[in-house]
Amino acid sequence: MSLEYAATAHPTHPRPGPQDMRAVLGHFCTGIAVITGHDGQRPLGFTCQSLTSVSLDPPYVSFCPSRSSSTWPLIRATGRVCINILADHQAALCAQFARSSEDKFAGITWSPAANGAPRLHDTLATIEAGLEYEHDAGDHTIVVAHVTTLGAHGGRPLLFYRGDYGGFADWRLDPTAE
Ligand SMILES: Cc1cc2nc3c(=O)[nH]c(=O)nc-3n(C[C@H](O)[C@H](O)[C@H](O)COP(=O)(O)O)c2cc1C
Repeated sequence: MSLEYAATAHPTHPRPGPQDMRAVLGHFCTGIAVITGHDGQRPLGFTCQSLTSVSLDPPYVSFCPSRSSSTWPLIRATGRVCINILADHQAALCAQFARSSEDKFAGITWSPAANGAPRLHDTLATIEAGLEYEHDAGDHTIVVAHVTTLGAHGGRPLLFYRGDYGGFADWRLDPTAE
């Protein structure tokens, strides 16, 4: 077994640090979502990879906003979100929503979802949800949200792996499978 990277508790470094966490957890390949909300004045959104399916019945998902996010407190105050799962042609959109800026929606096509949060166009799937639980978790918060509406639109996923974007090189999924 080869070992490319390792970090263990050490007398001078009592626990693995942020760089270690990024380096090793980056091996867990994920899809990417943009989580949006609308405060009545303007659309809000941020890129998020920490999306997880939590419960099927009742339907819950979770995601983890950083405590440093300037957008999350504004979305949180609205009590609802639209989770836009990105397709493989949306890497630029992903990067746009990952920067703190006033004009994240510049050039972005969207329409209001049933719950009022922005539904981005041409994504892989859309999940609308109401915020239900929050748990403190270090420099992030674990948010559990109750799914109210969801749908998949077809296409291929944008993937995030070791700090870089990609897709399936070998597409073998049966498009007729559930
Ligand atoms: C691929 C990718 C995944 C990300 N995942 C998360 C995440 O799960 N949680 C989070 O808080 N920030 C995540 N970020 C960072 C946020 O998108 C970024 O900090 C945020 O958009 C900053 O803008 P804000 O200050 O307007 O919130 C991710 C960024 C990228 C590029």
